[in-house]
Amino acid sequence: MVIPRHLAVIMDGNGRWAKARKLTRTHGHRQGVVAVREIVSNSIELGISYLTLFAFSSENWSRPPSEIRDLLGLLKLFINKDLATLHKQNVRVRVIGSRAGLDDDIIALLDKAESLTANNSGLNLMIAFNYGARQEITDMVRHLARQVEMGQMTADQISEALVSQSLYTAGIPDPDVIVRTSGEQRLSNFLLWQAAYSEFIFVDCFWPDFDRRQLELALAEYGRRNRRFGGLTTDEPEMEQSAVASGG
Ligand code: IPE
Ligand code: IPE
Ligand code: MG
Repeated sequence: MVIPRHLAVIMDGNGRWAKARKLTRTHGHRQGVVAVREIVSNSIELGISYLTLFAFSSENWSRPPSEIRDLLGLLKLFINKDLATLHKQNVRVRVIGSRAGLDDDIIALLDKAESLTANNSGLNLMIAFNYGARQEITDMVRHLARQVEMGQMTADQISEALVSQSLYTAGIPDPDVIVRTSGEQRLSNFLLWQAAYSEFIFVDCFWPDFDRRQLELALAEYGRRNRRFGGLTTDEPEMEQSAVASGG
């Protein structure tokens, strides 16, 4: 199996999973947390270095207040209950997204998860919480513009590398593959810059049903993809390459 260095997942379909079982959406989100624990353990076992999980988008604030309370409650519960285990598993936790406007107790919890695990050398787990790529890009532009405004650098010094370093994901390699569950085929404002050359895999199963087998199926599909990054693949026969080059 080809193991990606960085796997990112849009964990979608908790509500529909619950609806199909005549359960409340809350049940669906709770079962989603079980699937989070599973993918973390499986990623460690499979030797994935970076795992990014989209947990709450900057647009998810438009959901009913009771559902938002549930989701924030589950995040707190997850960190409170699982942080010690994650630390024991040598996982380094980072939370990407905006902290602006979050309650102090949540910010404290996110900071605690990051600082406790900061020196761990195992799986890098990024939780995208209150994350929106357009907001991330806007923050980056504002940050760089301010530096130019203050005379700390010139506009010409802005490079792709500097842009990458100015995003929430500074220092984290771009995702090799982005998996979205529940059958929806869109990014929903996830990692727009970082996804430039990611492989996209859309699976029909709802997030709570995404188990080891589903993960292996997705990785098998990833292994069948031919990543070219705008160039040619090395295993393409010489003949074909020269045919392409000569336009024939
Ligand atoms: C994913 O499940 C969890 C979050 C977006 C927070 P949904 O809550 O979006 O479930 P569906 O898409 O309504 O089924
Ligand atoms: C994307 O799912 C966000 C997360 C999985 C956290 P949504 O359910 O919010 O996306 P849309 O609204 O279907 O695009
Ligand atoms: Mg959804």
